[in-house]
Amino acid sequence: MAQEKTVTPGMHGQWSSRWAFILAATGSAVGLGNIWKFPYITGENGGGAFVLVYLFCIALIGLPIMIAEIMLGRRARMSPVNAMQALAKQEGRSPAWKILGWMGVLAGFLILSYYSVIAGWALAYIFRAASGVFSISTADGIQAMFGDFVSDPEALLAWHTIFIVMVGAVVARGVSKGLEKATKYLMPSLFILLLVLVGYAMNTDGFQQGLAFLFTPDFSKLTPAAVLTALGHAFFTLSLGMGAIMVYGSYLPKNASIAQVSLVIVIADTAVALLAGMAIFPLVFANGLEAASGPSLIFQTLPLAFGQMPMGQLFGTLFFILLVIAAWTSAISLIEPAVAWMVENHGLTRPQATFQALTVTWLVGIGTVLSFNLWDFHFSFFGQEKTNGIFDMLDLLTANIMLPLGGLLIAIFAGWKMKESHSRDELNGNRSVYEFWLFVVRWISPTLVIIVLLHLFGVLKLIGIE
Ligand code: PHE
Repeated sequence: MAQEKTVTPGMHGQWSSRWAFILAATGSAVGLGNIWKFPYITGENGGGAFVLVYLFCIALIGLPIMIAEIMLGRRARMSPVNAMQALAKQEGRSPAWKILGWMGVLAGFLILSYYSVIAGWALAYIFRAASGVFSISTADGIQAMFGDFVSDPEALLAWHTIFIVMVGAVVARGVSKGLEKATKYLMPSLFILLLVLVGYAMNTDGFQQGLAFLFTPDFSKLTPAAVLTALGHAFFTLSLGMGAIMVYGSYLPKNASIAQVSLVIVIADTAVALLAGMAIFPLVFANGLEAASGPSLIFQTLPLAFGQMPMGQLFGTLFFILLVIAAWTSAISLIEPAVAWMVENHGLTRPQATFQALTVTWLVGIGTVLSFNLWDFHFSFFGQEKTNGIFDMLDLLTANIMLPLGGLLIAIFAGWKMKESHSRDELNGNRSVYEFWLFVVRWISPTLVIIVLLHLFGVLKLIGIE
């Protein structure tokens, strides 16, 4: 077959160091998931208890599966589709494991198609923040501004297009020239700006209430939908289950400790999400806004803060710029598995592969553009009302089903199908850490994912489309 001729392990290059990998993987993990999605799904799912389940999923499912996914990538040093094929062969397992790679490529396309539309919102808000309009608007005015914005499909389409072009510009350049350069200064700056926002939130009278909402669990609010959403979000926010972290792992130098780098990435990602929550919920309560207002949440709360704080025009502009960069570094990793595969198997150059993959993504994204205006049909998901048609469907399908399923298969492959001597060799760290990881990835993570997914299939019949 053609791929035997063209695919050589490591053909896409390598990160220049362990730190470069940590930055890039953190760049992939930290994105709209932390700053836009985490607060809004926390608001929709009642706060504290949801946050606790999410943290639990991060520790018991996310971290061990991240170690597994990086390990598989680094061992094979190819795109996820070919990596799974090569590893399955090496371990004497069925070639069907390749399907795991395929599912990831598909999930990446679907996620990026809507991710890019939301990133487009953030792009548009850079200019709103810079214009100073937030400082002369009331809470109602800011809500109305958002409503007007998303009801205009042409505007959303234009911003979506700009963002896709930005992603293409980086991905076409390849691993060290493109991906690595894009991530270096972002993380620290974003972190600092979030701290500024939390500082502002501390001085509003909603701070206590905001913290209580986030950190006081009320288990009566924990619905089955909330548990599934928390699980799905653990995968989404850590970029797991679709090959993004696997493909990044395939560019990781051999001598880096996978367990260590994974821990750093997981802690950074979780810290950013919690800080975002601590910045946003106090504002929600101080201004009498609705915690459960959905995807619009940060676009309705943060502009208020920027409108009122000293130097808000500057901070607001900077914040949305950083949010766009965070989304950018995540978007790159969503399409990388597909691009790497097209280069390996179809003899395309990186720019050609990038162009083709992003054209498809852009087209699918039109479904999300329309979800907020012309085609915003409603449906219910486990009794939860979903109001944004295709967008909500894509999000539920990818984050709540495809990623957990992909993660489950990764855990099974790494824990059960790979020879222990191979995984031990690749992880090559402290012995008891290895034993502990193996136990969790064999027994705990898969069991938890299976329980939640089975529950989903059991109650699928409750989902009705209006
Ligand atoms: N982790 C990214 C975020 O939180 C999204 C993402 C999901 C990126 C899956 C890659 C793969 O925004």
